[in-house]
Amino acid sequence: MPDPQPVPNILMKDYRTRKILLTGVSRGLGHALTDAFTVQGHAVAGCARSADDVNAMQSKFPANCDFSVVDLASDAETGAWINALVTRWGPPDLVINNAAIINPNMPLWEVPYSDFTHLVQVNINGVFSVIRHIMPHLIEQQHGIIANLSSGWGRSVSAGVASYCASKWAIEGMTLALAEDLPPDIAAVPVNPGVINTTMLQSCFGSSADQAPTPEQWAETAAPFFLNLSVSDNGKSLSV
Ligand SMILES: NC(=O)c1ccc[n+]([C@@H]2O[C@H](COP(=O)([O-])OP(=O)(O)OC[C@H]3O[C@@H](n4cnc5c(N)ncnc54)[C@H](OP(=O)(O)O)[C@@H]3O)[C@@H](O)[C@H]2O)c1
Repeated sequence: MPDPQPVPNILMKDYRTRKILLTGVSRGLGHALTDAFTVQGHAVAGCARSADDVNAMQSKFPANCDFSVVDLASDAETGAWINALVTRWGPPDLVINNAAIINPNMPLWEVPYSDFTHLVQVNINGVFSVIRHIMPHLIEQQHGIIANLSSGWGRSVSAGVASYCASKWAIEGMTLALAEDLPPDIAAVPVNPGVINTTMLQSCFGSSADQAPTPEQWAETAAPFFLNLSVSDNGKSLSV
């Protein structure tokens, strides 16, 4: 008799329904995670800037999901979103800071000043804003996991992507230091997702991005990975 085939994780239903706050849901990894989480019955509250994409998601996904147009570069906008969301939807069990941008490849000294500061505003300040506004709610409910999307370029470097590397090394340091401050029922981890064929990867890899897995393929492994994070992971640099 042949050995039983392993069941792909995506098919394993997790009966503990989770509320997941996820930034950057309009495309790429965030959109694929939204698909994978909601297929398993979890509720996703997400944001992105593209109003057409966000509105389309509101009708595509189940009614227990909640999508908003938010620019994470604005702390005021981010705070208003999180406070209104928690009022109507409740605090999340899992927070995934996924949204980020990358500058076009070029040596650091050629990056326009405004492009560099905007990248920092989204990739670092945006993550900080979500954390500073959601933490009081996680502390009050006495549980929560925060996963901040890092990168291979948060642990190594390459030419042409110095501004992005600076932001992802910052995510690693900020998250590991945050983990030291947290109460025992809350955890924070930086997560390197690997290399996946998204708009961002196409920007820095060009046509060779086609060789990477699709976001949907990645989410088959990544969704259960995020759902299985626990407080025992606090302060670990993890990879999907
Ligand atoms: N793809 C890879 O191979 C790879 C590798 C390592 C790390 N990562 C990390 O994985 C995460 C997802 O990357 P991805 O490849 O999926 O990127 P992507 O395809 O470019 O998607 C980025 C998402 O972030 C949103 N976003 C960007 N700026 C925003 C802002 N100011 N406010 C709100 N939302 C914003 C975008 O939506 P709008 O444009 O509609 O706002 C989009 O939904 C990022 O943190 C990235 O650094 C990716």
